[in-house]
Amino acid sequence: MISIIGTGRVGSALGFLTASTSLDDIVLVDRNKNKAMGEALDIVNTIPQNSSISVTGTDDLECISGSKVIVVTVGAGKIVTDRFDLMPYTVPIIRDMSKKIEKYSGNAKVVVITNPVDVITYCILQETGLSPKNVIGMGSSLDSDRFRYLLSKVLHTDQSQIESIVLGEHGNSMVPIFSRVKFDGKSVGLNDNQMASITNDVRNYWKPLTDLKVASVFGAAKHSYDIVRAMIKNEKLKVPASVMVQGEYGISDLCIGVPVSIDATGASIEKINLDKNELDSLKISADIVKNNIKKI
Ligand code: LAC
Repeated sequence: MISIIGTGRVGSALGFLTASTSLDDIVLVDRNKNKAMGEALDIVNTIPQNSSISVTGTDDLECISGSKVIVVTVGAGKIVTDRFDLMPYTVPIIRDMSKKIEKYSGNAKVVVITNPVDVITYCILQETGLSPKNVIGMGSSLDSDRFRYLLSKVLHTDQSQIESIVLGEHGNSMVPIFSRVKFDGKSVGLNDNQMASITNDVRNYWKPLTDLKVASVFGAAKHSYDIVRAMIKNEKLKVPASVMVQGEYGISDLCIGVPVSIDATGASIEKINLDKNELDSLKISADIVKNNIKKI
């Protein structure tokens, strides 16, 4: 069973993706019971003909009992200029929720979408005592696809020709890894101005989305779905995601976007080569996240 806590636009889009591909039984949880029930009543109509899965909506967190995977996508309903500014609103909600996750579903894997995702992932780990392998924040895989889109525009090609990865904070200090960009399988040489401009654009990609449509929805839902699917189907997924880091890449005692391999056993950190500038930028990003974690 998959529990999705928060049936706002991201949570309901994720519920649609999960049900329409018959991934598993789904429980939609929202403090607004009618919203959760309404989304369930809508999403059940996307279940494939040959699928026996169920979709239910509730405001009762006890219904997450027995979940294989829990997705935390509660929002603060605030428009901010920095995801970190959501902390005072989301941390108290997450603290209370974590106690119920531990009580009702202590063996579940948790996928975190709620921002600031690196801090919230760390907070859930602290509050639940779950294994670090089992709590994963979605953010850097979304950033990596945004990087890929922006590179395809600069290189006048389509996204399928580009491989790219972004690490670090899912926030203003994220680190596009230019040294590992591939165009048609080959390395790419961009000048300093191009790299600076693309770095700025990927870090601020979410802002025009906020101006144009209040918040991103489908990118966040799809990248979260990919992680949930890898766990449920035990299909290995290699993406960057926010997990607890203890020494890898020279950083420790925080959750931040690093390369991981995800399957039914959870997330394992993967080692990739970064150049010195990228390692330095990752350290700067880690220091920013650690400073935010101190404010929990
Ligand atoms: C964004 C949200 C998911 O980057 O943080 O759109």
